[in-house]
Amino acid sequence: MRKLHFYFSLLLIVCFTASSRAQLISGPMLGPVEYRTAKIWVEVKPGSSATIAYWKKGDMLHARMVNKTSSANDWFSPMIFDLVDLEVNTVYEYQVLVNNKVIAMNKFKADGTFSTKDLWQWRKPAPDFSFLTGSCAYINEPSVDRPGKPYGGDSSIFESMAKEKAAFMVWLGDEWYTREVDYFDEWGLWNRAHHDRKIPVIQNFLKSMSHYAIWDDHDFGPNDIGGNYILKDASKKVFTNYWCNTSWGMNGQGIYSMISYGDVDVFLMDDRWFRSADETKDSVNGKPNTDKHMWGKEQMEWLKNSLLYSKATFKIIATGSQVLNPVSPFDRMLDFPAEYYDLMNFLKENAVDGVLFLTGDRHHSEIIKVKREGTYPLIDVTSSPLTSGTHVFGGVEKNNPYRELGIDQKQNYTKFTFNGARNQRKLTVEFFGVKGDKLGEWSVNENELKTAVK
Ligand SMILES: [Fe+2]
Repeated sequence: MRKLHFYFSLLLIVCFTASSRAQLISGPMLGPVEYRTAKIWVEVKPGSSATIAYWKKGDMLHARMVNKTSSANDWFSPMIFDLVDLEVNTVYEYQVLVNNKVIAMNKFKADGTFSTKDLWQWRKPAPDFSFLTGSCAYINEPSVDRPGKPYGGDSSIFESMAKEKAAFMVWLGDEWYTREVDYFDEWGLWNRAHHDRKIPVIQNFLKSMSHYAIWDDHDFGPNDIGGNYILKDASKKVFTNYWCNTSWGMNGQGIYSMISYGDVDVFLMDDRWFRSADETKDSVNGKPNTDKHMWGKEQMEWLKNSLLYSKATFKIIATGSQVLNPVSPFDRMLDFPAEYYDLMNFLKENAVDGVLFLTGDRHHSEIIKVKREGTYPLIDVTSSPLTSGTHVFGGVEKNNPYRELGIDQKQNYTKFTFNGARNQRKLTVEFFGVKGDKLGEWSVNENELKTAVK
């Protein structure tokens, strides 16, 4: 990284429009923004160099630059930049340059701003804040999509999301859908991510807040597949090049990680990497089959330790498929009974407070509440779909007795807002449609998620 007087360099730079823009495929997208660092993602044409110039708001004279030239492979060139040595609670501005040219396209400017986190610990109450979440985004590509009605709906939902005031977005899986033409080879996996990321309608959203992601089956590989997928290493390479979470799994395995923001921890779970085939028997000799895994031993150990270690008021466990829904005939953690009951017993025995689940995949949104004897009920907030096909509540799920709130047949996204004084923190969950129209609201106080007597 070089410290340069960017203002003077700017005078020497010819401002390109269309031709330079063509070298910038997509982005910038904001990754995690911490107290003194930030990540910014862009995709350029292979062979191009990219530079991020950044400065404290209003102080372009002291801009710093970070430059990259390497491509991820011969086909695609997504790049992740680390901006370091920033000041806390400070607004920064940045500009993307490709091949040393300022990108100044009229509609989608390759520049932006972000604010580093405020250092509140030991000083003041936890900040009030919001994050957005959602799952299942299908972007149409008619030449290779299934015939018939397009599966992808109205992508302008991303424009509504770009207007929200939120610290970050948690993508809950099926961010893109790989199809037959994509998941049989490594190029196909890269190409699908590349195709969906570059759509113009999403560009403003990508830079409006930080983005974190976990995968579910479709952005991992073929429908419903797990750890037996032969291209899972390649799939991880694609995912980790198109998102910029703080970390990706442990010991080189999986993509699990976490987000800590204010007094909230979000555990980002990987429900594919370690997964047994869904067809594995649930029970053996009348007992839950301990060889059937959704998260796997290593990841479960990490989650348990992280939950015990966490001091967060709200501990949100985010995973691709539903966890709690007792009546769903579709993909859910209850179909992995050994793991499911192990987690339930662990939460109860250790009186882990403030736990909620956050899930996607279902093509409808809902809040499922499951009572527990002797302690607080568990909640599973499901948010789906952003743009893919919608689901109608039917069969055993038509009048699901565990459902507190339900939204079917509508594309939607969800907003989590945390506010209130210490010991009285409140979580409000709101669901919004394509144009930002409110579809539902539910809230819970931290005291409703506490074990009565420890
Ligand atoms: Fe899924």
